[in-house]
Amino acid sequence: MFAVALDGPSGAGKSSIAKAAAKELGFVYVDTGALYRTIGLYLLEHGIDPKNAAQVEPVLPEIQVELAHDPEGQKMFLCGREVTGLIRTPEISMAASHCSAHPAVRAFLLELQRELARKNNVLMDGRDIGTVVLPEAQLKVFLTASPEERARRRVKQLRESGQQAEYEEILKDIEQRDYQDTHRETAPLKQAEDAVLLDTTELSFEEVVQRLVGMVKQLLGVSN
Ligand code: DC
Repeated sequence: MFAVALDGPSGAGKSSIAKAAAKELGFVYVDTGALYRTIGLYLLEHGIDPKNAAQVEPVLPEIQVELAHDPEGQKMFLCGREVTGLIRTPEISMAASHCSAHPAVRAFLLELQRELARKNNVLMDGRDIGTVVLPEAQLKVFLTASPEERARRRVKQLRESGQQAEYEEILKDIEQRDYQDTHRETAPLKQAEDAVLLDTTELSFEEVVQRLVGMVKQLLGVSN
């Protein structure tokens, strides 16, 4: 199996880029942020503070997280209920960031992620895929862009999906999540030593997708 680990901060465009590249390559796209978001949703729905490890840890065995892949993309299920459309709000983003700091939550999701990579050619996006989840991935890419550019893209994405979004608020949110994600003790967001850095601030969506696809094809020995 071939695995591409795609890591980087919130809003760098990882998911849309990974989705398009995976489609072109015939790989399964795995959005690992959606796993943390699904746990965040469970916690908020049950009145549990995502920051409080003592509250979060005991309920983990009750949380059943499943994912399914179909041509439209990855679908998320929480205890058998489809929640794909419920996990994209700013509240869930923050809950996911908070709960992802707990080692028990990360351990809880680790095997699920590795299992997917054992069974499929994957393009997996997240924060610690190249460093922790799939350290043996054949290709590691660290995708980034300036916080301002990421905020602009997120605002556009939210507005397109019919949600309200204020630039200043989103930028603050992104900076706060960057801080939390890079400063947590367990599996912080950081570029793997053997990862290729891809800064997308000045690149178009299509250019980034083609660079990524090109890197994979080169490693696979497939000509374009
Ligand atoms: O990629 P995303 O914005 O959907 O991720 C939501 C949160 O989940 C993010 O703030 C950090 C966390 N996360 C993580 O810690 N590790 C991953 N592999 C993916 C996401």
